[in-house]
Amino acid sequence: MILLLFGPPGAGKGTQSALLVSEKGMSHISTGELFRAAMKNQTDLGKKAKSYMDAGKLVPDDVTIGLVEEVFEKKSQEDVILDGFPRTVTQADALKTILESKGLKLDKAVFVQVPQDELLVRLTGRRVCSQCTATYHVKFQPPKKPGVCDQCGSTDLIQRKDDQEDAIQVRLKAYQDSTFPLVEYYKKAGIYLEVNGLGATEEVFGRLCSALDI
Ligand code: AP5
Repeated sequence: MILLLFGPPGAGKGTQSALLVSEKGMSHISTGELFRAAMKNQTDLGKKAKSYMDAGKLVPDDVTIGLVEEVFEKKSQEDVILDGFPRTVTQADALKTILESKGLKLDKAVFVQVPQDELLVRLTGRRVCSQCTATYHVKFQPPKKPGVCDQCGSTDLIQRKDDQEDAIQVRLKAYQDSTFPLVEYYKKAGIYLEVNGLGATEEVFGRLCSALDI
């Protein structure tokens, strides 16, 4: 199955993707994670993406589509979660073309719905491990030992630059203007599903699995 998780920033797409990987053995493609890794390694891609990401803006479509084309060249294509791509109609059209060229198609597009006041609480409280990218929340999902990553033991749990108030506002606007139109796009394609993203992580995961019948 090729599955898209989309929705506003902070809706829990990365958190639910991690559960689909650990519980259902799916593989995960997150354009946000790929861009952050490229930035950390100071590659040309990372340098191109940095100013957009830090400000909360979308990275231009041509750069993002090129990145996903490369990933699909390398990756085995069974049971893939696309997290954060596509997030514009141009990217959605490009994804269709990439998949069709391999005899594949997107099976489901799941919109994770969370109200804006909750998004702000989730984003401002998020902390990520700078070493292994594990995600925490100061209140909802703290590490077992304060300040120490459960996964790799690093003590460098940081706030993403784009989780600061100014960048969050820019991301919410980019989402509304560019990504929300994908709701209609995927409804028309007949593969749209919606999941309520409010509640405990495991509760949301239960809803997601029921919606997908997995
Ligand atoms: P990306 O990393 O994809 O960011 P995003 O879409 O804004 O999504 P987030 O990572 O902020 O949130 P999430 O939904 O994954 O939530 P999470 O699970 O972490 O992209 C970053 C940037 O890269 C973009 O702004 C853009 O610049 C660029 N980019 C990426 N893809 C692009 C593309 N296709 N085109 C152009 N540019 C692109 O959860 C958030 C917090 O909430 C965490 O602290 C978590 O612990 C907590 N939480 C999760 N679930 C729950 C729950 N059920 N209850 C309480 N807390 C919860």
